[in-house]
Amino acid sequence: MKILGIVGSQRRNGNSYLILNEAFKHSNVETEIVQLAEAQIDWCDACGLCKDTLECVIDDDVGSILDKIIKADAVVFSIPRYLPLPSKFMALIERIGALYHYKLETDPDFSVPLEGKPFGLVVVSAGGGRQALEALKEMAFQVIHCWHMRLVPSDSYPYLGVLAKGEEVGEVLKDQKAIEQARELINKLTI
Ligand SMILES: Cc1cc2nc3c(=O)[nH]c(=O)nc-3n(C[C@H](O)[C@H](O)[C@H](O)COP(=O)(O)O)c2cc1C
Repeated sequence: MKILGIVGSQRRNGNSYLILNEAFKHSNVETEIVQLAEAQIDWCDACGLCKDTLECVIDDDVGSILDKIIKADAVVFSIPRYLPLPSKFMALIERIGALYHYKLETDPDFSVPLEGKPFGLVVVSAGGGRQALEALKEMAFQVIHCWHMRLVPSDSYPYLGVLAKGEEVGEVLKDQKAIEQARELINKLTI
């Protein structure tokens, strides 16, 4: 059993990384974290060349990240709210989504490799509260709609995922309630 954590922040080792790393420490399954801050991710050129090959012609890190997502048993996305989401994370959604979108256009029976794969969500924001719900909703919609994955809800409000509070790097580690909720969510992903 392996859980992959995707950290969507453009700030390396920032709050989204710290909360996920803290939550993973108590997990008894294999875990790995990919920080998009360390990856090269360009936007989709909408060339449509992936229609037949199911491979993108852009030579960056999207292919290897997609491989890791396909191989993982479950995925956790830990993303900061950036009005509503970081553009690098959105570019990843766009690139992988485009691969499947073009393929499904030519072959409606194509089975998306991520179909039904369980995922959980964590959003970190300066405000920490309802304001970040927009990011949580947007992320849930994008991952389900573009990648066909299956959301595993959190056991506590707002159920779509975990809302954590932190602005300066390290501040999120004071949000013990969110850390506990993230641990519970990761446990649910292993069941
Ligand atoms: C471009 C940008 C937009 C942001 N927008 C919001 C916002 O609308 N609401 C909020 O509470 N925090 C907002 N923040 C604060 C971040 O969510 C917060 O600092 C978070 O801890 C960053 O996580 P990171 O260290 O993983 O990047 C924004 C930060 C940036 C850089």
